Amino acid sequence: MRNIIGQAVSGSDFFDRPQVIKRIRRAIRNGNQVYLSAPRRVGKTSIMHHLSDNPEPGEHYVYAITQSVDSLDGFYKELAKQVIGSDAFGRLGRTGKTIKNGFTDLLQRISLKVNVPMVGELSLDKGTQTSIQTDFTTLLEELDLEGGKLIILVDEFTETLDNILIKHGKQEAKRFLQSFRELMHNRKLTGHVQFLLTGSIGLQPLVKKLEATDLINQLNIIDVPALTEDEACHLFRQLVDQEDVTIDDETVRYILRKIDWLMPFHVQLLALEVIDVHESAGSPIDQRKADKAFDQVFHQRNKIYFEQYYDRLKKRLELGPEYQFVHELLNRAANVPTLDKAIVHDLAVKHAFADQYKATLESLLYDGYLHETADGSAYRFNSSILKTWWKKYVG
Ligand SMILES: Nc1ncnc2c1ncn2[C@@H]1O[C@H](COP(=O)(O)OP(=O)(O)OP(=O)(O)O)[C@@H](O)[C@H]1O
Ligand SMILES: [Mg+2]
Repeated sequence: MRNIIGQAVSGSDFFDRPQVIKRIRRAIRNGNQVYLSAPRRVGKTSIMHHLSDNPEPGEHYVYAITQSVDSLDGFYKELAKQVIGSDAFGRLGRTGKTIKNGFTDLLQRISLKVNVPMVGELSLDKGTQTSIQTDFTTLLEELDLEGGKLIILVDEFTETLDNILIKHGKQEAKRFLQSFRELMHNRKLTGHVQFLLTGSIGLQPLVKKLEATDLINQLNIIDVPALTEDEACHLFRQLVDQEDVTIDDETVRYILRKIDWLMPFHVQLLALEVIDVHESAGSPIDQRKADKAFDQVFHQRNKIYFEQYYDRLKKRLELGPEYQFVHELLNRAANVPTLDKAIVHDLAVKHAFADQYKATLESLLYDGYLHETADGSAYRFNSSILKTWWKKYVG
C-alpha cells in the first residue's frame, strides 16, 4: 500500500472499509438510489473507485464527475459521454446486444452532442432534434444488459446543483433536481439502471435552501463514518511498517488520539511525518518523537492539503455577514474545547445573520469543521488537526 495523499486512491492503495462498502452494496442490491454523505476528504471518491474496480456479478459501473458542470444539458451530456465511453457499453456494443431499431440514430445524435468516438459504423441520419436529456433517457431505456445492472456513479453531484443555483438561479436548480428525480425513478429503468451520488458539500442544507426537500426524499442516504481506532491503527501500521519504523501499539494509539477524528487522510499525513521523524531521529518512535511528528503536520509543505478545505469554504461563503460570522465562529471554536450553542446564536445576532445562520452552520457540520457535542448543547472542532491548522493559518 502506497501512502497517497491528496488524490483519491484505487486498487491496492485502497484501505478496505468493509462496513460501509457492505451497506452500499446492500442498498444497491435492493434497488435504491443512493447518496453517499460525508465531509470533505473522508474518502467518497476512493469508495466509488473501489466499487467500480470490484463489481459484483452482473454489475456494470460507470463513473462520472460533474464538479465543473453548471447546466442541465451539461450534466446529461457528461453522463452520456461516460456511459457511451464505458467498458461496459463497449462490450455490449461489440456483441451487438444493444443495437436495436432506431438505436443507432440515437447513439449518433448523442455522440454528436457529446463528441466521443462511436461504437462501430453508424448512419449519418441525425434524426429529429430532441434534448440531450431525452436522448440520454432513451439510451438507458434501450440498453440491454442481459439481466445485469448499470450503476452510474455521479461524483460531485452536489457541486453541480450548487453551480446551477449560482449561475442560473433557484428555479433552474429546482428544474434540474426535478428532471434528475424523474430519471432516477423512471419505471422503465427500474432494476437495471441505478445511481450512486455524492458531493463534497452538504446536499440537505442546499436542498433546504432551495425549498425542495421533497425532490430528494427518495434517496437512500448513507453516511461514511470516520475510521474506528482499530481501523486507523491498522492503516497506520500498513503505512509505516513498510518503512521499517519501530513504534509500539501504545504509541500508535497515543498519536492517533491526538488527531481525534480518524479520517484516512489525516492518518496518512501523520504516518508521513512519523516516517520523516524516523528518518531524521531514528526509531523507535516514542511519545516525544510522536509529538514532534504531530507538530510537523502543520509544516508549510503540508499547507496545500488544508487549503483544499478552506478554498471550498471560501468559495461558498457570501461576503459580508455570512463570511464574518463563520470566521469569528471558527476562530472562537479553535481556541476553546467546546463552544456553547447560545454563544453561536449570539455571534449570529452580532453579525446580523440570525435568521440564516442555521443553514450555514449545517454546512460547517457537513464540511467536517464542527460537530455537536454528545449532549447537544455545544459545538466543537471535529479534528484537532483542522483546529490547529485553522488557528495557525486562517484565524
Ligand atoms: N479507503 C482509503 N484508503 C486509502 N486512502 C484513503 C481512503 N479513503 C480516503 N483516503 C485518502 O484520503 C484522501 C481523500 O480521499 P478521497 O479523494 O477519496 O475523498 P473525498 O471524500 O472524495 O474527498 P473530496 O471531498 O475532496 O472529494 C485521499 O487522498 C486518500 O489519500
Ligand atoms: Mg471526492
